[in-house]
Amino acid sequence: MIKSIIIIIFESLFMFIAGNWKMNCNVKEAGEIAENLSSLECLSSNIEVAVFPPFILLPEVYQKLHSSTILIGAQDCSQYSNGAYTGQVSLEMLREFGCSHVILGHSERRTLLNESSSIVKLKSIQTISYGLKPIICIGETLLERENHTYLSTIEKQLKNSLPDFNEIDYQDKEIIIAYEPIWAIGTGKVASEKNIYEIHTFIYNLLINNFNYIKNFKLIYGGSVKSSNASIIRNIKNVDGVLVGGASIVAKEFIEIIKKFN
Ligand code: PGA
Repeated sequence: MIKSIIIIIFESLFMFIAGNWKMNCNVKEAGEIAENLSSLECLSSNIEVAVFPPFILLPEVYQKLHSSTILIGAQDCSQYSNGAYTGQVSLEMLREFGCSHVILGHSERRTLLNESSSIVKLKSIQTISYGLKPIICIGETLLERENHTYLSTIEKQLKNSLPDFNEIDYQDKEIIIAYEPIWAIGTGKVASEKNIYEIHTFIYNLLINNFNYIKNFKLIYGGSVKSSNASIIRNIKNVDGVLVGGASIVAKEFIEIIKKFN
């Protein structure tokens, strides 16, 4: 009972707004977005904002944001520490450029690169063990929604992507789960309030009942979030923030979204 009250307090107080730049921007554009964000004043202490540029733009963004309140994250990481892993980027390297968060298992990686939940789990373990926070993405396809199998997809992805109790020292480590229905990503079709509430409550209950050793978590929504729908999403129960794609590379629009959560 006390545990649930503490979790509810955690949830309702802190909002997390993430901007996933995907494979967009050159150095100049990245610097401009970062500069615009760094001048954002009076962010309330109940809100955290993070940007997720492509790896190669991290040094530029770090240079512009390291002394601001805006956090920096990566769009992926290696599950290995170092060595002969061509093309991969380690947590140690990400940490050097100020990363505090890592997006893991985004549907574009699960679909285009066949990234499985078991790989996502290994990367989550590695992320947490290096002191960074994982943002584990889960979400159903349009077919799964239409077939009404979406709850079992969500449950399977969550259970297989989250590290087990004995695999890491959870203590007060924060885990962020991003519910991103694939049919809502980049399509302009945001999930309805009812859809988001149903899934977030489902994930919330799964975490409370099946993963009660995870005491510090946030549930964020992603999929066609814009300044015009941000307020509605913000007010849905069990929504602790948003993962913004396309709208996060237009500084003015991203700032408008942040303001709706501030
Ligand atoms: P979108 O992308 O906001 O462009 O739909 C969200 C995401 O993929 O994280």
